[in-house]
Amino acid sequence: MRRLAAAFCAAFCLAAAARADIFSPGPLAHGHAKLEGLNNCTQCHVAGAQLSNQRCLDCHTEIRDRVAKHEGFHGRISDADRTCNKCHHDHQGRDFELIDWGKKGKKGFDHKSTGFALNGKHAQIDCAQCHEKRLIVDKGIRDLLSTHAGRDTHLGLGTRCSDCHFDEHRGQLGTSCSDCHNERSWKPAPRFDHARTALAGPERHDPRA
Ligand code: HEC
Ligand code: HEC
Ligand code: HEC
Ligand code: HEC
Ligand code: HEC
Ligand code: HEC
Repeated sequence: MRRLAAAFCAAFCLAAAARADIFSPGPLAHGHAKLEGLNNCTQCHVAGAQLSNQRCLDCHTEIRDRVAKHEGFHGRISDADRTCNKCHHDHQGRDFELIDWGKKGKKGFDHKSTGFALNGKHAQIDCAQCHEKRLIVDKGIRDLLSTHAGRDTHLGLGTRCSDCHFDEHRGQLGTSCSDCHNERSWKPAPRFDHARTALAGPERHDPRA
């Protein structure tokens, strides 16, 4: 039935634009409400009713730029699998969730797929402890949030320890915190002790270390 509607639309509705929304399969989700109406079909569909990833990205430049650089979650999906409506359905009413998190839901999201694995304490804390406005370092995403009221996002965090953690050593030990620390606890500093053993020289090397 939907396929038929699409084929019919391909032949008539986009070209005929105007009249009523009779060919739309249903109301768009809240975030896309301003795109309702026959004048806007081509913002997402190319003439011929096909959905266009490129048109989605033309508006969602926050995703386009990361895809171009192969960064973040969307940038790591293979080109062949990055078909937007596999995970973002629409026309299912205003309250419909645009984001399909997959079978395991948001809590079960595989964070490694973003390029930043959650280790140690990071795997135990709430998503929102990191994904909060205060910690966003990317200027483009900060600007997006200030111009798009009510926008929620997982974009824009930094990945260096010092992007989120206060430097207790006030710059004296450099910015490469993970040379001495990991995500389990700050004290002790496990890698620091290891580095110290190595620095002590080969004759003091402990084969068990
Ligand atoms: C904000 C983007 C957006 C706009 C604007 C939009 N659509 Fe869609 N449309 C979609 C998405 C996404 C799907 C795929 C839904 C899915 O896979 O669940 C879709 C699917 C469809 C389908 C079903 C295609 C199929 O093969 O199942 C038709 C028909 C359709 N849209 C017509 C329209 C018409 C007519 C308009 C203008 C009145 C319109 N759409 C406006 C995003 C949009
Ligand atoms: C003309 C601009 C425009 C086009 C085209 C467009 N969107 Fe959007 N989209 C928005 C706006 C505006 C929002 C609401 C959030 C915001 O203000 O940034 C939104 C929200 C979303 C969200 C939810 C974001 C969130 O955090 O809740 C997803 C997912 C999304 N769009 C995917 C798509 C997909 C997939 C397409 C193509 C089928 C598409 N969009 C086409 C403007 C657009
Ligand atoms: C310790 C901090 C931390 C916690 C906790 C955390 N995240 Fe993240 N998350 C990050 C960082 C850092 C990135 C950025 C990776 C990048 O952009 O390169 C990220 C990126 C993401 C992205 C990808 C955004 C994109 O499109 O590229 C999603 C989605 C995400 N996190 C979801 C979650 C969810 C869901 C949870 C809870 C189950 C969670 N995160 C918990 C730090 C965290
Ligand atoms: C394999 C599934 C999948 C595909 C394919 C996919 N997305 Fe997403 N998208 C997600 C998930 C999961 C999230 C929620 C995590 C996040 O915010 O990054 C998301 C989030 C988003 C957001 C909100 C980002 C934020 O946090 O502010 C936008 C906008 C978006 N997608 C657009 C797109 C567009 C455009 C395409 C096609 C080029 C696309 N997506 C393809 C799964 C997908
Ligand atoms: C995107 C932000 C973010 C990044 C990047 C990040 N962390 Fe965290 N980390 C947090 C948050 C939020 C918490 C929980 C609140 C807190 O303890 O500060 C946390 C907790 C921790 C804890 C547990 C602290 C405790 O007292 O239990 C350690 C240890 C830690 N992080 C180490 C690291 C190290 C090492 C790196 C770099 C490899 C790093 N973090 C990168 C946000 C981040
Ligand atoms: C050259 C090694 C080294 C580097 C690099 C380093 N630290 Fe440390 N850090 C230590 C040692 C050693 C301690 C003390 C551990 C103990 O008391 O067991 C420590 C302690 C800490 C503590 C705990 C302080 C307290 O008293 O509770 C925090 C927090 C911390 N470091 C954060 C950072 C951050 C953030 C960075 C990066 C900006 C960083 N460290 C870089 C070696 C290092």
